Amino acid sequence: MTDKIAVENLTEQEARDELARLARVIAAANTAYHTDDAPEISDAEFDALKARNNRIESLFPHLKRPDSPSDVVGAPTAEGFGKVKHAVRMMSLGNAFDDVEVSEFDGFVCGYLGQPVGSVSYTAEPKIDGLSLSLRYERGKLVQAATRGDGETGENVTENAKTISDIPRQLADAPEILEVRGEVYMSHADFDALNQRQAAQNEKQFANPRNAAAGSLRQLDSEITRARPLRFFAYSWGELSTALAETQFEAIKRLKKLGFQTNSLTKLCQSQDEMLAHYRMIEQQRATLGYDIDGVVYKVNDLKLQGRLGFRSTTPRWAIAHKFPAELAWTRLEGIDIQVGRTGALSPVARLQPVTVGGVVVSNATLHNEDYIAGRDSKGNQIRDGKDIRVGDWVQVYRAGDVIPKIADVDLSKRPETADPFIFPDKCPECGSDAIREEGDAVRRCAGGIICPAQAVEKLKHFVSRGAFDIEGLGAKQVEQFYKDGWISGPADIFTLRERFGSGMQQLKNREGWGEKSANNLFQAIDSKRTISFSRLLFALGIRHVGEAASTLIARHYGQWGLFEQAMQNAAGLSGPDWEELLSIDGIGEVMARSLVTAFSQDSERAGIDALVAHLDIEEAEQPDSAGSPVAGQTVVFTGTLEKMTRAEAKARAEALGAKVSGSVSKKTDILVAGPGAGSKEKKAKELGIRILDENGWLTLIGDA
Ligand code: IVH
Repeated sequence: MTDKIAVENLTEQEARDELARLARVIAAANTAYHTDDAPEISDAEFDALKARNNRIESLFPHLKRPDSPSDVVGAPTAEGFGKVKHAVRMMSLGNAFDDVEVSEFDGFVCGYLGQPVGSVSYTAEPKIDGLSLSLRYERGKLVQAATRGDGETGENVTENAKTISDIPRQLADAPEILEVRGEVYMSHADFDALNQRQAAQNEKQFANPRNAAAGSLRQLDSEITRARPLRFFAYSWGELSTALAETQFEAIKRLKKLGFQTNSLTKLCQSQDEMLAHYRMIEQQRATLGYDIDGVVYKVNDLKLQGRLGFRSTTPRWAIAHKFPAELAWTRLEGIDIQVGRTGALSPVARLQPVTVGGVVVSNATLHNEDYIAGRDSKGNQIRDGKDIRVGDWVQVYRAGDVIPKIADVDLSKRPETADPFIFPDKCPECGSDAIREEGDAVRRCAGGIICPAQAVEKLKHFVSRGAFDIEGLGAKQVEQFYKDGWISGPADIFTLRERFGSGMQQLKNREGWGEKSANNLFQAIDSKRTISFSRLLFALGIRHVGEAASTLIARHYGQWGLFEQAMQNAAGLSGPDWEELLSIDGIGEVMARSLVTAFSQDSERAGIDALVAHLDIEEAEQPDSAGSPVAGQTVVFTGTLEKMTRAEAKARAEALGAKVSGSVSKKTDILVAGPGAGSKEKKAKELGIRILDENGWLTLIGDA
């Protein structure tokens, strides 16, 4: 029996057999534990099986099975929580900071739908300052609870969620599949009591109820969670087998009827005035509610309209968070440091005498750039929001949500006589290269490129960060150390670490904080990221202006990495069909497009990308909703007047179905949707023999008629 043989002594054939056996046994144990709620083996035995599987895989990487238990999500492991892929992405919300932005939101919604302003109604409810949780019920039974994570994949915290008394474990009259989403939070009273208990036991105190709630929910031992009084408000849903209602307001009522706590300050509003009045009412009650809220969320009430509005890459078009004004506090500016970021930007950071703002101790704040500090631009003109900030000044700091603290004001009456204007460096403080400010750029940048250690390290830190390669055991600290030791100088080097240092691992093992187990785990974690999605890879490259959302849009548009790379090279001259195509992607502007094309045409940057890609297996991007879509992968052009939807809606809908929408007709066009008044585009399409549909024909084709 292969299960009796020590891993080191397994022959290749035995290893193959043993991996097959482990895959079977672990899958059965998972089912017994998660689906049947009747574990057949102890957690320790389970962990030992998984560890054995992982050890064999690390010795025989080529034998790793497609159904390897090391890739299976949803099972809690000794190292942390299991991962859960959300059936429906968990979104975040766009923000409005004042009445005008709320009005613009309503204007946008009505415009998108082609309806007069004032004709759409919204729900308004408090925005709870906790952490979101998705609860999955199958046939009325709570089967899984998952945190938001990166929106696509969260952590499996089922056992912990079961200890929260606001969360029913069994529902009567629920849809067969029901994912309820809402916020886990801690009340002020419970928070104070918890901190007192922590203090009495010499344990760490929590900075605010949100941190306490997050720390309590993410305990590996659910008995600790049980002892922490957490609560839950339901406000949304994910996958559903049947709709809860026709409107947001009725759906929330239904959730309440099913046994969830819903917020009693949820109101149905018929106009902007009513929305703003409700916001003020909630704001007045804020201090006495007994739990933290940080704004009011408005949601389009009609669920059909929500469906038409759909989502941008990370936020719904049909909802917005109207945030409360940030809290403010005065403190002294003790110094100004200059940090060099991954794109070489020199960022001034205020070192502050620590002060509590909104429940969090703040000791740093961003100072943006040199004009902001000087209060004047390079030509000597007073700039908007420019402050003339000097070391020694009294400054007012504010925090809005998770955003980095900023400086709101300077008290000139308290300025010490010795306070001189700050002189911004013109050399990089890290590598001594010239720090250059280009015409029209507010930011001064180090010209050292990859020879600047700060830029190289920041690029690497970004590369391994959560939204990027997210390599367990290789965080900012380790990257800094490995870089300093000369073990890695660019992303590709991460993937040759095992080759270079793996044998015997003597060098790594001798390092403080590293043992055989952690070194092995690191190599395994790196191996597990050799297969990576297109969008993560692109985001990880840290190309200026190209964030997570843009990376997703680009990945969806091009599908395959090879096609994208080729297109970027073809677009090197910033003209021609590939350049036009890049610009036609909704959400990609000219600045970002230039940055992308430059990254792929500059020799040194390209060489780095090529070296990295050689170690990777890049997954094709999924087309959202496009399974079975009749237009997936096709290029569509809209022209003329559309009567049943606005142009923006038509484009978003087509893209959601996996089509590419282009502004001009060419040989690449598959379908032209021509409304009344179509002119030259229709003529050209006819000449090229392209399929031409009217609006109804298009709606019939995509099943929306
Ligand atoms: S609705 C698709 N409603 O705010 C829309 N979110 O900043 C899903 N939040 O991730 C969100 N209270 O964790 C919604 N009443 C409320 C909320 C709320 C708090 C959180 C939620 C979300 C975050 C976005």
